[in-house]
Amino acid sequence: MTSGRLKILVTGATGQVGWELSRTLPTLGHVVALDRKELDLTRTDELKRVLREMRPDIVINAAAYTAVDGAESEPELARQVNAVAPRVLAEQLQSTGGLLVHYSTDYVFDGTQQRPYTEDDAPAPLSVYGASKLEGERAIQAVGGAHLIFRTSWVYGSRGKNFLLTMLKLFEERSEIGIVDDQVGAPTWCRWLAESTAQVLAQCIQDQGSAKALDGDRSGIYHMTPAGETSWFGFATAILDLRKSQAGAKRPKLHPIPTAAYPLPAKRPANSVLSNAKLRTTFGVAQPPWNSLLRGCMADLTPRTP
Ligand SMILES: NC(=O)c1ccc[n+]([C@@H]2O[C@H](COP(=O)([O-])OP(=O)(O)OC[C@H]3O[C@@H](n4cnc5c(N)ncnc54)[C@H](OP(=O)(O)O)[C@@H]3O)[C@@H](O)[C@H]2O)c1
Repeated sequence: MTSGRLKILVTGATGQVGWELSRTLPTLGHVVALDRKELDLTRTDELKRVLREMRPDIVINAAAYTAVDGAESEPELARQVNAVAPRVLAEQLQSTGGLLVHYSTDYVFDGTQQRPYTEDDAPAPLSVYGASKLEGERAIQAVGGAHLIFRTSWVYGSRGKNFLLTMLKLFEERSEIGIVDDQVGAPTWCRWLAESTAQVLAQCIQDQGSAKALDGDRSGIYHMTPAGETSWFGFATAILDLRKSQAGAKRPKLHPIPTAAYPLPAKRPANSVLSNAKLRTTFGVAQPPWNSLLRGCMADLTPRTP
């Protein structure tokens, strides 16, 4: 395996996925992980310069404008980060023969379908964020270089802003909490996402001697979420059940509520469930149940007693 020589650039290094990638990827090559201060995706000239000078074999773009509601009032910034920058990355990599790995979202769909979405289903985003991510996907595909776009959903982990950490905080503060029960999806632990990304890359390297040589047939969009589905209410209930019972820990009462009772600036899809069959058959990535990953993440959060 030639992986030791690969140069891998990770953007968004302090984000949920970027941080896990920077811990997981060093087995595959030399990793340079840059945060927003070191590489701001809105500064196109700087982006081009860094890529020209570093000439990475692989760029993993974990940076994104992820404030779903904020994007409704900052559409230009969301578009610059989620659509324009990925196109620039794709163009630069195409000129040097590198591979672009990029993440996208379940929010490219409108959620009206009654079965899990496949990669062939037509996107129809309901929000500015979803539209900006879809534009990013299409820009990368239009450039036509080697690329892997992983669409994922409901990402959580031990750091950053996410539903798990929000719930753990609310459980301490409130005795009753209303949680939306009419949106379903698959909560995805960012560590599993990073490890699955590494598994795909390792396979590309093993199969072809270099991830640069990812053949045109395997470039494309892949759904990458764990198995199973739940609602936000189901997710919150599982978090509450798994929370380590500590002496005096409060146990709030959770109530299922409809989306209409919790209005937000951006519309969300009712059905966010993604089919992962393509990822499984192409790269052999297994999908553990979402709740077993949640158990793993929460075990990781719990301070260990000596
Ligand atoms: N979070 C989810 O539920 C979810 C669901 C589906 C898909 N995804 C996709 O998964 C990928 C990773 O998301 P995540 O959950 O890891 O998001 P995250 O925790 O919000 O991390 C995003 C990272 O991007 C950085 N960033 C924002 N604007 C930037 C800019 N102009 N230049 C450089 N960096 C910038 C942020 O830096 P700062 O911290 O400095 O702002 C942050 O480190 C994204 O493509 C996202 O669209 C996420």
